[in-house]
Amino acid sequence: DWTMAAFREEAMAKIRDQVGSGRVICGLSGGVDSAVAAKLIHDAIGDQLTCVFVDTGLMRLNEAEEVVGLFRDSFNIPLVHADEEALFLGELDGVTDPEAKRKTIGRLFIDVFEKHAKAAGGADFLAQGTLYPDVIESVSFDGGPSVTIKSHHNVGGLPERMNMKLVEPLRELFKDEVRALGRELGLPDAFVQRHPFPGPGLGIRIPGAVSKEKADILRKADAIYIDEIRKAGLYDTIWQAFAVLLPVQTVGVMGDARTYDHVLALRAVTSVDGMTADYFPFDHDFLGRTATRIINEVRGVNRVVYDVTSKPPGTIEWE
Ligand code: XMP
Repeated sequence: DWTMAAFREEAMAKIRDQVGSGRVICGLSGGVDSAVAAKLIHDAIGDQLTCVFVDTGLMRLNEAEEVVGLFRDSFNIPLVHADEEALFLGELDGVTDPEAKRKTIGRLFIDVFEKHAKAAGGADFLAQGTLYPDVIESVSFDGGPSVTIKSHHNVGGLPERMNMKLVEPLRELFKDEVRALGRELGLPDAFVQRHPFPGPGLGIRIPGAVSKEKADILRKADAIYIDEIRKAGLYDTIWQAFAVLLPVQTVGVMGDARTYDHVLALRAVTSVDGMTADYFPFDHDFLGRTATRIINEVRGVNRVVYDVTSKPPGTIEWE
């Protein structure tokens, strides 16, 4: 009889076994997976764990405050809040290719981690919230040569460079199981139910060049979209919803003035594990209401479109 409580005990014993008296460093991304991994590991080994929240400047609205508040204030888990917005946005300046963005962001994560691992007196292990679908999406489905659709950025490379071993306690779990484990560990329901958020963050939701100005526009629009989804009672039915700020400007009219602003695309999908997905069939009232609110409240957006592509042939993210 397999229960989450039993999984939790077993996973904690495995972590203690693997780590011994070693030191572990864990990056918190704002997502559910890394938060669940960190809480589990902290429950197992306490202050042998150092958590680092890397604020890339590509987080959702209020995300940094929420994560820091939960870990530091509610759980009393020591947390380094690394505000690296200037570093990430500086290095991303002019980078337009999606894979180049992922590589840039991944490389900077390594640098920031190395810095904080050293500051914490070194670490023997690196903890990651890798899930089972992450493990298999980068492997071929047919036994032939593996095809990488997107190089899911993680902090690969760092373990070798710093002679660290990986701790990945969620490697056998699917998303719904990670959520169940999170509840078992006492993470608040609202946190556990949050939609998946990719490591490269808003960096891959701004096709073309990324800038602070664009990230700020996208954050505001995305927050309104999610707010409308919550108000409509649809948040938990949808697997993932987010806005994408397109590098396209179109002509519009506001009052009696001409505008020439960005197009914003809205995306929402249902899915079981992120490997395949269907676009979510919002009713037109919802779409109209949300578009009106975004255009009225967010300067820099004058047109909103809805993405009706499923996966495959689309992917969930636009990059
Ligand atoms: P795609 O876009 O490949 O996304 O259909 C499937 C799921 O993975 C997330 N995703 C990422 N997560 N690093 C991550 O940590 C990445 O580079 C990355 N790319 C996509 C995406 O948000 C969706 O949940």
